[in-house]
Amino acid sequence: MSKISATITALGAYVPEHILSNAMLENMVDTNDEWITARTGIKERRILKENGKGTSYLAINAAKDLIKKAELDPSTIDLVIVATATPDMKAASTASFTATAIGACNAFSFDMDSACSGFLFGMSTAASYIESGRYKKILLIGADKMSSIVNYKDRTTCIIFGDGAGAALFEPNFDGLGIQDQYLRTDGSGRDFLQATYGGSSNPITHEVLDSGGHYAFQEGKTVFKNAVFNMADATNKILERNKLCKSDIDWLAAHQANKRIINATAERMDLESKKVMMNIEKYGNTTSATLPLLLNDYENQLKKGDKVIFAAFGGGFSWGSIYLKWSYTKKNN
Ligand code: UT7
Repeated sequence: MSKISATITALGAYVPEHILSNAMLENMVDTNDEWITARTGIKERRILKENGKGTSYLAINAAKDLIKKAELDPSTIDLVIVATATPDMKAASTASFTATAIGACNAFSFDMDSACSGFLFGMSTAASYIESGRYKKILLIGADKMSSIVNYKDRTTCIIFGDGAGAALFEPNFDGLGIQDQYLRTDGSGRDFLQATYGGSSNPITHEVLDSGGHYAFQEGKTVFKNAVFNMADATNKILERNKLCKSDIDWLAAHQANKRIINATAERMDLESKKVMMNIEKYGNTTSATLPLLLNDYENQLKKGDKVIFAAFGGGFSWGSIYLKWSYTKKNN
């Protein structure tokens, strides 16, 4: 039997209806559309407003979109992984609630958190289960309700983040398509520069923490920016070298959408034309674990069977890496 590789065979997505535009942020903090656009490329983001609805609401809707589009029987799913930095609750996984809600009655499920690298690392996890031959259908969902940990009085973070979810189905492929190679890394010394400090086991929530806003996400933007540019470029170049790929071989760069300048810098180091660089940061901002599947979903109609896609991400931890994947289908209407 030929070697099993793991490939993406279907996609789905969900973003909330409420739009938070740069103009609206101008009325909330000391900022302006020109600064946000020039420094980040973001024009608007989506926010989940409804009380009592958490990340699972986003994840369930993205999964349902995939199930409908792919005409998938959810009882055939073996495993549901939810990559998220904003789980519904501290205990009881978002994934198990999501799996049951979508009818994945024969699946097991778990959450994965690696901040903005969560979906990338989840791709590696899903691929390993498929390549081993143990499972045949794995639903990987990247979902984050970043608005639940963003301080809307802090202009250095509130302009960046948004809410959303994307889902990808991983299945075996016997024709050499799917995931070809991966280079994944973490560096724990980076956590000083990007974290939501309070609310975990080291620093539980207290009245004082809530009063000081210590439960919100904090980042030292410049340091994160520099590390993101260096490490995303380094990881993608390692993948290109190892697989003897030159720029003309690459069809797409799917990079974590944190800042347009970081994405462009990564593409420049790869010497890649801008038409090959997937970009939707202007519509959604940084949705953390959801950026990569939201990108794929937006570009699904342009992807063709055999296309060589380089994924790249960088996030809290620090965590980062790159994955090389050969796309395995062309949508019928292409
Ligand atoms: O998702 C994974 C992790 N996250 C990232 O990858 C994000 C990485 N970092 C970034 O994207 C950028 O560092 C930011 C977008 C957060 C900030 O952009 P920057 O170009 O690094 O700006 P800066 O922090 O160097 O600030 C430049 C100036 C400062 O004013 P002074 O000191 O030069 O007078 C800031 O106070 O811009 C000021 N500033 C703002 N001005 C208007 C900071 N935030 C704002 C704002 N509106 N929202």
